[in-house]
Amino acid sequence: MKELQEDLERVLFDGEAIQRRVDELAAQISQDYASGDLALVTIMRGGLFFLTDLSRRLTIRHTFDVVGASSYGPHVESSGQVLVTKDVEVPLQGRDVLLVEDIYDTGRTLRVVRDLLLARGPRSLEICSLLVKNCPRTVEIPIRYIGFHIPNVFVVGYGLDYAEQYRHLSCIGVLKPEIYR
Ligand code: PRP
Repeated sequence: MKELQEDLERVLFDGEAIQRRVDELAAQISQDYASGDLALVTIMRGGLFFLTDLSRRLTIRHTFDVVGASSYGPHVESSGQVLVTKDVEVPLQGRDVLLVEDIYDTGRTLRVVRDLLLARGPRSLEICSLLVKNCPRTVEIPIRYIGFHIPNVFVVGYGLDYAEQYRHLSCIGVLKPEIYR
C-alpha cells in the first residue's frame, strides 16, 4: 500500500476526510428522502466504493443497483464514447432515483446513464457526485449533492483508477505524471 501511495504527487483528501464528508452527505440524503422511495444507482466501476459507504450510512429504507458504463479505457483522458455494459435491474418506475457517481468530469457518462434511468419512468432523478472536477464540460448536468470540488487534475483512489489500479486506496490523490507518460 505504501508503494502505491508513493505513486501520488499529492493527496487531496485522506480517508478520514472522505468518510466525514460521506457522513454529512448521508445525513442530508436521509433527511431529504425520509418520506420517499429511494433507489440508489451507481456506475461501475468507479462509483462502487462511494455507493457502499453511502448506503451503509443512510438511516432510511432504500435499494441499490449498478449500471455498467465506461469512457476512459486504459487512458487518463476520456475517449469521448460511453459504452453501456450493464443495464439497471431493480425496478425504478415511480421511485425516487439518486444516481451516485464518483466524479463529474466531461459529463458524458452522467448524460448517458441519466437518460437510461429516465427511460425507466422514475418519480424523481437527482445526482450525487463525490467529486466535481473544475474543467470544460461537454454536457452541463445539475448535481444535487456534491462531496468535493477539485481542480482539473487526474485523480485516483477511493474507486477511481488508472489502468484499473489504485481503486482500493482509502485516499484520493493526484497521480504523478511519470506514471502515465
Ligand atoms: C470514469 C468515472 C466516471 C466517468 C466520469 O469512469 O468513474 O464514471 O469516468 O467521466 P466523464 O464525466 O468525462 O464521463 P470510467 O469510464 O473510467 O470507468 P470506471 O468507472 O470503470 O473507471
